[in-house]
Amino acid sequence: YQNEIYFNALRGVLPEFPMAFAELADRAQAALPPGLWSYVAGGAGDEFTQRANVSAFEQWALVPRMLVGAAQRDLTVELFGLTLPSPLFLAPVGVLGLCAQDGHGDLATARAAARTAVPMIASTLSVDPMEQVAAELGDTPGFFQLYTPTDRELAASLVRRAEAAGFKGIVVTLDTWVTGWRPRDLRTGNFPQLRGNCLANYTSDPVFQARLKESPEQDPSAAVLEWASVFAAPLTWADLSWLRSLTTLPLILKGILHPDDVRRAKDAGADAVYCSNHGGRQANGGLPALTALPGVVAAADGLPVLFDSGVRSGADVIKALALGATAVGVGRPYAYGLAVGGTDGVTHVLRSLLAEADLIMAVDGYPALADLRREGLVRLPGGV
Ligand code: FNR
Repeated sequence: YQNEIYFNALRGVLPEFPMAFAELADRAQAALPPGLWSYVAGGAGDEFTQRANVSAFEQWALVPRMLVGAAQRDLTVELFGLTLPSPLFLAPVGVLGLCAQDGHGDLATARAAARTAVPMIASTLSVDPMEQVAAELGDTPGFFQLYTPTDRELAASLVRRAEAAGFKGIVVTLDTWVTGWRPRDLRTGNFPQLRGNCLANYTSDPVFQARLKESPEQDPSAAVLEWASVFAAPLTWADLSWLRSLTTLPLILKGILHPDDVRRAKDAGADAVYCSNHGGRQANGGLPALTALPGVVAAADGLPVLFDSGVRSGADVIKALALGATAVGVGRPYAYGLAVGGTDGVTHVLRSLLAEADLIMAVDGYPALADLRREGLVRLPGGV
């Protein structure tokens, strides 16, 4: 990507989109209505955890190696029997639809995933139904993120549809059965789902529609919030065997930060754990996801570990991989790219992350992902 940018510059054509994250955020803020910007950019409490997610990356520094001859870098990763061209993925973001100018940001993001071959985890909360998102992905693998509704038949139906649509795994988000204390959204009174947005996966569902017929006077969005909603029933470990029984697809548990929970996830038959604190949106005061990562990886003992929260650069991707992540997700950066430039904006963000990660592997002498290890990092003194 950098060659393309330099050669374009020789012809007097400079990049259309920002190269630095701070500028990308500024442009996204200018592009979005204020309430939506606050929803996407904000987090829980005074956003300590959200900031700490980012600054935790500054506690680790890469140690370069010379004369390794890393002329060709191998970024491919094996996950659930799939060979992915890179270890990067798009974390599930529930208001993508609203972030695009045309109101179909889930589809625009899926097109960027298809262009870059970066897998997408499609959120339950989307403007367009999952079948349409899957169709846009083409050959690029997609995963379906489940907010588990209290109505178990509806949950099972969502999973069946995800299987039929060709998704390669089910990511169950565990940390959002209630929504966190988010002062920015409380101040604006803006919570998109409560306004009936991004509920297409529910309203298009046959089980949901059958339920609606049973009480026809009900407004569909109100019905979603009553039966399904992100305010779902709190799951416990006892519910895991039921979730496991819903699908033979890989089951990935998102929001795992404690080594004991990793062990329980393994016992419950999970195929991967996903180390994340929801980008600091759910509970303030919690530890940065990156700080939890080494403990999660150790407890996973070979089980794949997905990671997100705080990744803002290719260097961050490399650090998370060196700390043992199997694959690394981004959330806000690509949502900002979407707000700024639709499919092209998301594509730009992904290509930039990949190009920087690849260049770091070259300069620092780590030709393959397997060469990225904890020993390649030093921990800097000082706290977050
Ligand atoms: C999210 N995230 C999220 N996670 C999930 O499992 N389902 C969802 O619907 C959403 N929705 C959502 C909306 C918005 C606006 C954001 C910013 C995030 C969390 C997401 O998957 C991921 O964990 C974080 O975004 C990662 O942190 P960064 O990269 O944003 O720092």
